[in-house]
Amino acid sequence: MPADLIVASNRGPVSFVRDGDELVGRRGGGGMVSGMLSALAGSEAVWVCAALSDADREAVAAGVEVTDPVRVRMLAIDEDVFQAAYNDVANSVLWFVNHLLYATPTAPVFDAAFREQWTAYVAYNQAFADAVAGAAADGAKVLVQDYHLFLAPAMLRAARPDLRIAHFTHTPWAPPEYFALLPDDVAAAILTGVLGADHAGFLSPRWADAFQACAADLAGGSWTAGGVAHGGRLTSVGVHGLGADRADLEAIAHSEQVDRLLGELRSEVRESRVLLRVDRTELSKNIVRGLLAYRELLRTHAEWVGHVVHLVFAYPSRQDLAEYRDYTESVTRIVEEIGTEFATPDWQPVHLSVRDDFERSLAAMRLTDVLVVNPIRDGMNLVAKEGPVLSDDGLVLLLSTQAGAADELGDDALLVNPYDVSQTAEQLHAALLMDPGERRVRCDRLAAAATALPPAQWFADQLAALD
Ligand code: G6P
Repeated sequence: MPADLIVASNRGPVSFVRDGDELVGRRGGGGMVSGMLSALAGSEAVWVCAALSDADREAVAAGVEVTDPVRVRMLAIDEDVFQAAYNDVANSVLWFVNHLLYATPTAPVFDAAFREQWTAYVAYNQAFADAVAGAAADGAKVLVQDYHLFLAPAMLRAARPDLRIAHFTHTPWAPPEYFALLPDDVAAAILTGVLGADHAGFLSPRWADAFQACAADLAGGSWTAGGVAHGGRLTSVGVHGLGADRADLEAIAHSEQVDRLLGELRSEVRESRVLLRVDRTELSKNIVRGLLAYRELLRTHAEWVGHVVHLVFAYPSRQDLAEYRDYTESVTRIVEEIGTEFATPDWQPVHLSVRDDFERSLAAMRLTDVLVVNPIRDGMNLVAKEGPVLSDDGLVLLLSTQAGAADELGDDALLVNPYDVSQTAEQLHAALLMDPGERRVRCDRLAAAATALPPAQWFADQLAALD
C-alpha cells in the first residue's frame, strides 16, 4: 500500500541479529531513531533504511517483514557500494568536512580512489530515491535524514515532482571556505542535492546559515529571507531544535536496574567529587583535549589530587575506520599517562569505561558533580541535554561553544573553547567550586531548556514546514 508519509535514513529503527537459526529484530540505536519512533509509532508511515549488517541482509533476502511499531522497508544495497558510500564518503569525507576534522597539510586527498567511492555514494543515494519513489502515494511527504542522503532529495524530485520533500541535517554544516575543500563538482552536487528538497532543516541557526552561505557561494543559489532560491525554485530553510524526552528518560533513569548501578558507582567513587563525560569515541567529541584539560587541572590545582575522579565513558564507534581506531588508542594512552603521573595506591584519577552501557551512563549522570561536553563541533549533543534532566543534586554543565546545544544551554552552562585546554582546566576548577545553591538553580534552568522541544515537536515541525 503506497504511503502518505515516508522517512528515509541510513540507520533504521530495527536491526537484526542472528540467534541460532532465527533472525531477531532489535530496536536501532541513537537519538534520531528514538525521536522518530516515538512520533511514528502506530502511524501508516513507511521507514526506508539500509541493511547495515550481514544479519540485516539475510533478513531482507528472507523477506522478513517489520510492521511494528512502524512499517520498515530495508534496502540490501550491494555491500561494496554500501561500504564505500557509508565509510569512505559519508563517515570519512562528509562527516570530516562538516565537523572541521581534517589536518589539512595531509588530508583530504581527492584522487581516483575517491572518485570510485563517490560513484558508490551516488548509487547508494539513487537506491534510496528509487525505493522511496516506489513506496510513496501521490503527493506524499518524505523526510530524508542526514549526510548519508544529501543527494537523494534532488533525485527524488526528478522522479516524483508531486512529492513534498524535507531534508534534515543532524550534523553541523561547514563554512564555505572549508566546504570548498571538496572537489567543486562534489560540493555543488551535495548542495543542489539538498536543494532538491522543499525544506532543509538544521539543529542550529549557525548550521543553517553556513548551509545557505555555501549554497550561495558554491552552487549559484541566492540566500533570501525564506531560504535559498536555486534553479527557479525556493527551498525553505528552518531550524528545528531537538530536545530530550523527559518522561522517557526519567522512566529509565529511575528503574531498579539504574538504582542498583548508581549504588555501585557510589561505592566506586566514594567521597571523591565526580567529573563525567559520556561519548562515542568519535574524533569530533574532543575526548583527548578534555583529558589534557583534566591533567592540567591536577597539575595546576594540586588540591584536587586524590579528591576528584573523572568517569570517562567512551565506547567504540566506527572501528572500520583507521582514524577512529587511532583516536581510541590516543584516549587510552592519555588515560594511562594521567594514571602514571598521579595515581596513588588507593586512588585512580580516571575511570575509563569503553562498554556501551546506556543505563550505567544514566546512573552516572544522576550522580556526577560536573558533566563535560567539549566537542570540537557537534550538531547538537544530546548528552548535554540529558545530564541536567537526570542529575539528582544539580550538576554543572561544562559545554563547548561549538556544540549546537550551546544555543539553548549557553546561559547556564560554563562555556569553553574546545581547543583551549587551559581555559577548559580553569572551567573545570570553577565548576568544582560552584556553590551548591547556584548549581541547583542553573541545573533546573538547563533541564527546562533541554526539554523545551520534545522529539514529537521536532518531528511535527518538519512535517508542518512542508504544508
Ligand atoms: C551521530 C550523528 C548523526 C548520525 C549518526 C550516525 O548520532 O549525530 O547525525 O546520523 O551519528 O551514526 P552511525 O553509527 O550510524 O554511523
